[in-house]
Formats: sequence, structure tokens, C-alpha cells
Amino acid sequence: MVVGSGAREHALARALRRSPSVAKVVVTPGNAGTFAEAAPQLAPIERRPLTGGVTVESVVEAARVVAPDLVVIGPEAPLVAGVVDALQKEGFLTFGPTAKAAQLEGSKAFLKELLARENIPTAPFVIVHNFEDACVHIRKRGAPIVVKASGLCAGKGVVVASTEEEAIEAARLMLVDRVFGDAGATVVIEDHISGEEASVLAVCDGERFFVLPPARDHKRVGDFDTGPNTGGMGAFAPSTRLSADLISRVEREIIVPTLRGMKNNGAPFRGVLFAGLMITRDNDVYLLEHNVRFGDPECEAIMELLDGDVAELLASAAMGSIDRRAVRIATDRAALALIVAAQGYPAAPKSGDEIRGLVDAGRLENVAILHAGTAEKNGKVVTNGGRVLAITAHGATLEEARRRAYEAVKLVSFDGMFYRNDIAAS
Ligand SMILES: Nc1ncnc2c1ncn2[C@@H]1O[C@H](COP(=O)(O)OP(=O)(O)O)[C@@H](O)[C@H]1O
Ligand SMILES: [Mg+2]
Repeated sequence: MVVGSGAREHALARALRRSPSVAKVVVTPGNAGTFAEAAPQLAPIERRPLTGGVTVESVVEAARVVAPDLVVIGPEAPLVAGVVDALQKEGFLTFGPTAKAAQLEGSKAFLKELLARENIPTAPFVIVHNFEDACVHIRKRGAPIVVKASGLCAGKGVVVASTEEEAIEAARLMLVDRVFGDAGATVVIEDHISGEEASVLAVCDGERFFVLPPARDHKRVGDFDTGPNTGGMGAFAPSTRLSADLISRVEREIIVPTLRGMKNNGAPFRGVLFAGLMITRDNDVYLLEHNVRFGDPECEAIMELLDGDVAELLASAAMGSIDRRAVRIATDRAALALIVAAQGYPAAPKSGDEIRGLVDAGRLENVAILHAGTAEKNGKVVTNGGRVLAITAHGATLEEARRRAYEAVKLVSFDGMFYRNDIAAS
């Protein structure tokens, strides 16, 4: 049973369905794409809607009905809310961190304290709880400086300020105006680090881990990295930006001590550790943040590159004894996920428009039309969110994967749709 309703969860469902050990996959709450896919030789994917959204209670309730052998949680919010603890208590094997371990993402203050304790390279920081302390620190350190709401803010809680005034204004919004509610009651202020961003994702069993193929995402809404940040407009894998040498340094300097620190905290980390990195001109690696789940759209591209039994990999990790031989990373292909978004995304996306061409696009070779913000209405598939589809393709080369995805997107249409033209083009 996969929990979530995005293209990430659709990709996970498909990877689990391909797993030889799996007979059936249920996605909850899913979307218009994550059910009844015609593929008779594979395990069926079914959908189970949730009333009242994804809450700890609604997910436990769904698990009681579905009785899955393995639950895989997609998004961070239910993890931080303790869905894994609740499912484990009911006896369900669940892939994902407990609430305590999910604090790595759910509390930037918790993260930074762990990093400091374990000597993991990260930007120098202070943790503040009131506006006066924030101002004193910002004036002392000067700009550029980074102000971060500690709690979950759906990617909107960080301000990279180029002046002291901008930083102070950000701190005021968080600590005085409480624009993020409790998520901004504690603020991390850290030094600005210049460099290139990259991420490394690893499936962890509390102690050991399996590093997934490196993926690169495209966060800005517009071509050539213009316009506001989004949840992600596309991704590709493998990314060659991180050398093998750099990845092994990330393992040694970041992943290993993070897992050790969490274990010593009494909260061993089981799930996907998604390390957000800044690599400086001198090739120093700093950890900006950890996420505790697959990235979306990175997951869509990564899943295309895993051969073997993904279910076995995740189930063994959830049990605390990861079987790293359960999957192999394909070396004969590359993959790309192209997000198709609705007019107005990310600010105010338009919903309810009929989507055409899905069947034809899905027939193209090595192309999967993964659904994100879609719903069914009167037998038709309509838009239901900002990121609507993730058109995912693979090919012998990245160029081939890219050509296929862009060929597929031309067959899809809905009112106001848009996408970036430069995914993996640089
Ligand atoms: N110390 C830093 N120096 C420079 N840029 C930073 C720093 N911390 C964060 N950023 C920028 O802000 C973005 C968001 O910060 P991050 O810590 O990843 O929080 P979140 O993803 O939860 O919003 C990063 O991807 C990076 O571009
Ligand atoms: Mg981030």
C-alpha cells in the first residue's frame, strides 16, 4: 500500500508492481492515474480514496481494510505526524521513519543540533525563538545570510537574504507575524554558503544504506531557471554532477554520521534519507538539509533505473536488515521526468479542466504518463492541482529519454497547460 497522491506515489506504485515479490498494489488516496492501469502481466494497481485527506487515522483505517504486507509512505507531512508509529503499532510493516526520526526534516533546529553534535559539515548557525535575538545575530553576522523557519513549510520557509534588512524582515514575518504558525516559532539563522546544489538519496535500514542513482531536479518554474520556485518542474537521472569520489565522501561525512547520531538518539532512521547538499568551488560539501522521503520528481526518474525487486529493498530496510542485492542500478539507460503544470502554478493553479491525449501519449515506447494533480469527473480525467502530470521516459541515453518525453507531452493537452522546455538540456 502506497500512501500519497502525487506522481511520486504513482512511480512508486509502478515500481512495486514490477517487483516479482508483489501480487497487488493499492495507492491511497491516489489520483485519477493510480488505479486500474491495463497491464495484465503485472500485479494490478488499485486505488483507495481517503475521506478527510491523509491523516494518521485515515491511513491506519485504510491499512486495516487493505491489510497490506508492506506500507510505503510518500510525503513528509504524515511521516512527521507519526503515521509510521501508528501503523507499526497495529502490526503493519511500514517503510518510512518514525515521527522522532522524521524530525530530521520536520525540525531544522533538531537537524542542526544533530549535525553539530556529529561534526557533520553544515553552515554555521544559531537557533532563535524571539525576534530580538534574531536581529542581534543578523546584525552581528551581516549579509548574505539565510533565515529558516524550523518546521514544515512546504518549501516556502527559507529566505536567502542578500541584505540585513531583508533577513530581519523575514525573521519578523516568522517570529512576530507568525505567517507559518508554529512552524516559524523557532528559527534557524545560518551563514550563506556559495556553490552548486546537489542531492544524494539513500534507502536506509537504521544502520546500513543503499545509495540511489543521483538525480537532478529543476526547481524554478520557467526555462533557464527563471521565475519563482516550485515543488519541481522536472528531473533526470543519472546526473553526472557528483563524481563517485564525491558520493563516497557524502556517504562517509554525512550519511554514516547521520545514521549513527540518530541511532544513538534512540531513533534509528529507516526510510529514504535525502541529503540536500551545497558543493563549494573548493569541492567542500555542506549539508543544507535532510529530507526524509523521496523527492518528487526525482523519484519518478530514479524508479526507472532500478531493476530487480524494489519491494524487497524497501521491505528489508523497513525490517532493519536491508537487502542491497534486491535491486540493481541500471547502467544501460537514463530517465527523465517532465512535469506538466496547470496555468497559475505555483501561486494559484487553475483546476477542473479536461485532460486529453493521455491514452495516445501513454502508448509511446518507454513512456509512462504518471499522474499528480488529476481527478476523475463524469468519466473524464480533469486537472486537480498545480503539478498535473509527470511524463516519464527512459532511453539508452539521456538525449533519447528527453526526446521521448517531449514527444509524449505534445500529445497531451488541457486548457492553460505548461511545462519547461529545458529539462536536462543544459
Ligand atoms: N546556508 C545556505 N546557503 C545558501 N543557500 C542556502 C542555504 N540554506 C538554504 N539555501 C537555499 O535555500 C533552499 C531551501 O533551503 P532548504 O534548507 O533546502 O529548505 P527547504 O527545502 O525546506 O525549503 C536551498 O535549496 C538553497 O537553494
Ligand atoms: Mg530543500
